[in-house]
Amino acid sequence: MKSVIPVGLYDSGIGGLTVWLALKKIIDEDLIYYGDLKHVPYGDKSREEILFYSYNIISFLQAQGAKLVVAACNTSSALALPKLHSTFKMPIFGVIEPAVEKALATTKNNRIGLMATVATVKSGSYQNLFSKVAPHTKVFAQACPKLVPLIEAGILQGQLVTEALYEYLDPLINQGIDTLVLGCTHYPFLLPEIQKIVGDAVQIVDPAWQTALNVQSWIQEHGARSQEVTQRQLNFWVSGNPAEFQKRAAEFIGYQIDKVHYHQPPEALPDQIEQLISKLSIKWGDD
Ligand code: DGL
Repeated sequence: MKSVIPVGLYDSGIGGLTVWLALKKIIDEDLIYYGDLKHVPYGDKSREEILFYSYNIISFLQAQGAKLVVAACNTSSALALPKLHSTFKMPIFGVIEPAVEKALATTKNNRIGLMATVATVKSGSYQNLFSKVAPHTKVFAQACPKLVPLIEAGILQGQLVTEALYEYLDPLINQGIDTLVLGCTHYPFLLPEIQKIVGDAVQIVDPAWQTALNVQSWIQEHGARSQEVTQRQLNFWVSGNPAEFQKRAAEFIGYQIDKVHYHQPPEALPDQIEQLISKLSIKWGDD
């Protein structure tokens, strides 16, 4: 008899809920979401810190019984996943490959804009993947450090958002892009405001949907579908204030979560981080 085995996903905070929404719509599986509120934003953290947070969250989701994990976070996908893929037995999906796949299927003039966190832009993950699979494309990357703190604070419109968006989008529009990748899972919450500024001539790519489709294909190809049940379990864990997360989730995705559990993550002390890096024999700069 088939059993019910959940799919895990995580982000630094509320942003991964954009991927959660797509997964909930596309796959019929139990979901366990982890929001690392203690460490949000990831975008200004070092690659070592991001690796440490990601490793511990994936381990937690694995201990919760997840059959696969989705890094619903570009920053973790860019900086940690290349180092962690071989560490875990279960598959781990990132959001960067699906974003690039979708952007290439969308662009007509091969001029693609990317909005992402400072850490994601600096990692060069998007730029490298585009130049590997489609060297004829031109990618214009824009770091957008003001956006995640605004979104986490529940501010999705108004002067602060508009000013920040013009600052980040003007340089991309000036490059004549026809496709814009939202390279941070928080940004789709600003979609109406972004679309207003870039206009209808620019197609916006939210990687969540392609990611969910890729997960669906994997589950089907591997015969890993959970058995049908009348109601799916949708569990939420955070490393910060559960009530805050519950409130924000209701505002942002219109989903009333019954209960958000608190999880205390391991302290990200420099020697703990170093120990993990040496335990996993991680070397930087060899990607
Ligand atoms: N939502 C995440 C991303 O996709 C993390 C943003 C942050 O915490 O800075 O990059």
